Amino acid sequence: MNDFPDDIFTEPEDVDPDTLANLGPLRRLAGIWEGTKGVDLNPKAEGPERREFTERIELQPIDPQANGPQLFYGLRYHTRILATDEDATFHDQVGYWLWEPATGLMMQTLAIPRGQIAMASGHAAPDAASLVLTATRGSTEYGICSTAFLEHAFRTDSYRIEVNFNPDGSWSYVLDTMLLVHGKPFQHRDVNTLVKVAEPTPNPLMLLGKR
Ligand code: HEM
Repeated sequence: MNDFPDDIFTEPEDVDPDTLANLGPLRRLAGIWEGTKGVDLNPKAEGPERREFTERIELQPIDPQANGPQLFYGLRYHTRILATDEDATFHDQVGYWLWEPATGLMMQTLAIPRGQIAMASGHAAPDAASLVLTATRGSTEYGICSTAFLEHAFRTDSYRIEVNFNPDGSWSYVLDTMLLVHGKPFQHRDVNTLVKVAEPTPNPLMLLGKR
């Protein structure tokens, strides 16, 4: 059951402009990261294909966002993945990671250029060492939307991401994207560990305040 206020228009007052100080468990994702130990299992006609990849992901704070009384802090991200044996981009993805301090709600939006978008959600404590978010095809709230071709040939039934923060400051993820290919389930899995190569840039409102 959702416990939303009757007043859906009034926005919160005195919002702290410092996104990096209000990201809860997402704070440890902020920055620019690289990973060289990626492994992908993807569907091919002859069966699962295993490929190794490198990744660069930029996660930068955005200004606080309000939906009426609902307040989010977040990061905008872009990840670019190259297979270790090929120059062309292997996987590209953009979106937001969002955190609602009042409820512990986390969201990840993702758009990938095969004509597919999703929004995954989960809950966590501000000091969580592990995050789990899921999206399910058919859900109007935290769902998956694909091209007609993908619906026909590679139906994407669910998406799950698990992030684990490591003691050395790096973080690792496991992505499980469940596909239906020729009527058979296929577990499209990706794993990697990301090491920080640069600190994040404060959000635009914070930068304005510093002039
Ligand atoms: C690290 C992340 C990922 C990598 C490296 C990756 C890589 C790949 C590769 C190499 C293929 C096979 C492409 C081909 O044969 O043309 C593939 C297929 C696919 N991926 Fe991913 N993927 C990732 C994440 C995702 C996510 C998050 C989703 C959706 C939520 C997704 C959805 C699909 C679908 C639907 C296909 C089948 C379409 C096709 O093979 O043409 N992938 N992926």
